[in-house]
Amino acid sequence: MEWDSDSDGGGGDEEEEEVEVGGAVPGFSLAIEGVLGSCGMVVSDALEPDFPIIYVNRGFEEATGYRAEEVLGRNCRFLQCRGPFAQRRHPLVDATVVSEIRRCIDNGTDFRGDLLNFRKDGSPLMNRLHLTPIYGDDETITHYMGIQFFTKANVELGPLPGPIIKEPVKSARFALDSSFQPMSMGPGQSNLCRDYSSIFQLTDEVLCQSILSKLSPRDIASVSSVCRRLYHLTRNEDLWRMVCQNAWGSETTQALETVPAARRLGWGRLARELTTLEAVAWRKLTVGGAVEPSRCNFSACAVGNRVVLFGGEGVNMQPMNDTFVLDLNASNPEWRHINVSSAPPGRWGHTLSCLNGSWLVVFGGCGRQGLLNDVFMLDLDAKHPTWREIPGVAPPVPRSWHSSCTLDGTKLVVSGGCADSGVLLSDTYLLDVTMDRPVWREVPASWKPPSRLGHSMSVYGGRKILMFGGLAKSGPLRLRSSDVFTMDLSEEEPCWRCLTGSGMPGAGNPAGSGPPPRLDHVAVSLPGGRILIFGGSVAGLHSASQLYILDPTEEKPTWRILNVPGRPPRFAWGHSTCVVGGTKAIVLGGQTGEEWMLTEIHELSLASNSV
Ligand SMILES: Cc1cc2nc3c(=O)[nH]c(=O)nc-3n(C[C@H](O)[C@H](O)[C@H](O)COP(=O)(O)O)c2cc1C
Repeated sequence: MEWDSDSDGGGGDEEEEEVEVGGAVPGFSLAIEGVLGSCGMVVSDALEPDFPIIYVNRGFEEATGYRAEEVLGRNCRFLQCRGPFAQRRHPLVDATVVSEIRRCIDNGTDFRGDLLNFRKDGSPLMNRLHLTPIYGDDETITHYMGIQFFTKANVELGPLPGPIIKEPVKSARFALDSSFQPMSMGPGQSNLCRDYSSIFQLTDEVLCQSILSKLSPRDIASVSSVCRRLYHLTRNEDLWRMVCQNAWGSETTQALETVPAARRLGWGRLARELTTLEAVAWRKLTVGGAVEPSRCNFSACAVGNRVVLFGGEGVNMQPMNDTFVLDLNASNPEWRHINVSSAPPGRWGHTLSCLNGSWLVVFGGCGRQGLLNDVFMLDLDAKHPTWREIPGVAPPVPRSWHSSCTLDGTKLVVSGGCADSGVLLSDTYLLDVTMDRPVWREVPASWKPPSRLGHSMSVYGGRKILMFGGLAKSGPLRLRSSDVFTMDLSEEEPCWRCLTGSGMPGAGNPAGSGPPPRLDHVAVSLPGGRILIFGGSVAGLHSASQLYILDPTEEKPTWRILNVPGRPPRFAWGHSTCVVGGTKAIVLGGQTGEEWMLTEIHELSLASNSV
């Protein structure tokens, strides 16, 4: 079986997706436009009365608005009722289709067809449903698997009437379920021929490319335990690559592809380890070469498997402008000074970011003449690497100790920092560095998080940014913060939302397990959107080495502590730490907090074998 895994559309294309499964089975053709997000998947226990749901995937939760814990144990027919309080099937749901489903399940055969369903908020959905029996070793149907392709339904229904008595979902569920007769399966009915399963008549290639590849890594892990064929299919590396690309985006998967150790591990194992974080560990490495003259307050960033260091503060606050590279692919990695033409003015407190695989972008910082707001770019892979100034129109005010990240492989995002005379800033600017005449654009927002410096900015879910911590203005004071703010830059009118924190109105409380307030910390974005926080300047007796993890994509994001074996660095600063190849964070000069020993580095490996 040979696949062109690059031809897969990736997660971002799914809205306009067309799924074609024609040809493998006569008459089996599925062409769906406007599929909402990834497809839903449900597994029901066929050995229990009324086929209770034992598993739903994230795609199901997102498309229907019901969370797994609200639906596990129920029969899937509640989707035919409009909203969680409706007690019977909606009259627009085609009763003949429902009877056909019942007939197929009674006979232990496959069902495929379209029927009207409803989201939890009452909005109608068209559901292209595939039901397939799954057999145990003794030819008994043990489970039913449902794959749902939800699309918008063009049905005008008006607003959902509220419940007459506001019941908790649990009792509404009881009322709902009890209005249906439990369905039992006779012994004869369950021993039905495997050949009826038309999903299983699909070739391995079609099943993998058109159905399994649309699921998340967790779903694939669940599906693999359903039956032997699915187990074998889910061993396939090409399938796992597609699944990883859908879940993490093509930029991340391409970055991972450049890491030899990640390639050795394989996509399936990598997906598991980066999902469960079971292999995370600290390691200490000694590397050769030297970064001279010695300095602090430089900025580091990763270009593939190379760590690049630019500028910094030398003795007597001397601003530096030299560039060093540490190639971690080398058998004996060592710091090398690289000869580059047209170096930018020296600086410290700036940011260094990587765009598009090999471009380095420097912004702002404090130079000999004071604060800066210039942008310089360098293609590290060019034959003769040369720094080039990007003359952005309408730049933000000069600043240092701001935060930056990159978006879409084309844009630099700059937020906050410290302006002249110590004023803290709260603005967010975007610059598309690929444009001929780039223009800085301030992200307009009716409300902004309090101004700050030393915070972190991470990107998740494609175009969402997450701000954490920093030294923030709080009335007349400046306090360390542990607040989390997010903004979705793909929205027409992006706005800041407070996700969790202690001091913000409307914010969730981090409930004790959240990271203590800090600035100059490290924020690492994991594939799939989770953010790891550690290090920085923390008040009191708290250890800066403790790792905290947050999934901003959860409905109620909650901080968790991540206990990691190995010896962590005692100090870690955001500007001197970078993520290499998506699988490890390299902390430079974290020994004493004062002496910057750049030949002793700490590595936080996110996956095993990622050396
Ligand atoms: C695994 C599985 C998934 C199902 N998914 C859906 C669904 O997404 N939407 C729906 O309306 N019915 C779905 N059904 C069908 C209903 O659960 C139920 O079998 C159908 O309504 C016929 O039974 P009834 O007449 O007792 O309601 C699913 C059934 C199974 C076994």
